[in-house]
Amino acid sequence: MTKLILDLDTGVDDTLAISYALGSPEMDLIGITGTYGNVLLEQGLRNDLAITDLLGHPEVKVYPGLPHAMRKDAFSVGEISAFIHGHNGIGDVSIPDSNREPETESAVDFIIDAVKTYGKDLVYVPTGPMTNIAAALRKAPEIKDQIGRIVLMGGALTACGNVNAWSEANISQDPDAADELFRSGAPATMVGLDVTLQTLLTYRQTQRWRDLGTKAGAFLADMTDYYIKAYETTAPKLGGCGLHDPLAVGVAVDPSLVTTLPINMKVDVEGPTRGRTIGDNDRLNDPVKTMQVAVGVDVDRFLHEFMTRITAVAQA
Ligand code: BDR
Ligand code: CA
Repeated sequence: MTKLILDLDTGVDDTLAISYALGSPEMDLIGITGTYGNVLLEQGLRNDLAITDLLGHPEVKVYPGLPHAMRKDAFSVGEISAFIHGHNGIGDVSIPDSNREPETESAVDFIIDAVKTYGKDLVYVPTGPMTNIAAALRKAPEIKDQIGRIVLMGGALTACGNVNAWSEANISQDPDAADELFRSGAPATMVGLDVTLQTLLTYRQTQRWRDLGTKAGAFLADMTDYYIKAYETTAPKLGGCGLHDPLAVGVAVDPSLVTTLPINMKVDVEGPTRGRTIGDNDRLNDPVKTMQVAVGVDVDRFLHEFMTRITAVAQA
């Protein structure tokens, strides 16, 4: 079975990503590494522990990552994030705190150890800022050739941003880290905003979880409704909320859900477009492509997989 690590800034769609992973019998979720972003690191870790408990998986270990970006001037979402994900990251829905604590091993060391142990059988899915994996690559550069695959949610290939016209939140939080990952040579699939915004969820679907009559179903429905409501304000024409982070997990489980182009990417780290993902001039014509960039998604098939897997977890 494929080993999976999720690296999360646990907001609403990160929680749906955890749920998708737990509802995927093809994957063995060996750990969650925490990062900052939608919420501070500590809140994200608390969420990870409480959510895995609530979903009936207290065996999932949670590892503390780095608390902030590599450079101090990095973008911070703050109140915007609270508006979209709630002050606690989970739509201001209250769930019991876990009795468990995060592990003492750091996220960076756990990632390195996991690559050494599982090698090509390991998929790592970051759905927040890429600070932890960049630090792991700095500490143990050889893991770039040893890891199975990285499937990241962030950036966009076409002009599309949610922080400003050209940059997406996960990349904007730490452009330097994302750039180090992109140019490291590690095998990475970028699932960007221009694709994830095609996969939308509505109240009609969250009601199906509520109708299950379980605590998990009610939590997932109430939390996601908060997120849908925020989208109604910020992007009223969309008609639902974007399933950014679960799509990255979906692609980790089944790469055929998206069509991809092989392009070596970089991130603008200086100047007015800091945070923009773009083709790397230095490696564009390199015959070796270490990155794949999603350019299309089978929306119906993904939504079917999403509802099937989340519902299985919600009714347990
Ligand atoms: C990404 O930013 C975060 O707010 C979401 O959790 C997602 O990972 C979308 O741009
Ligand atoms: Ca996220």
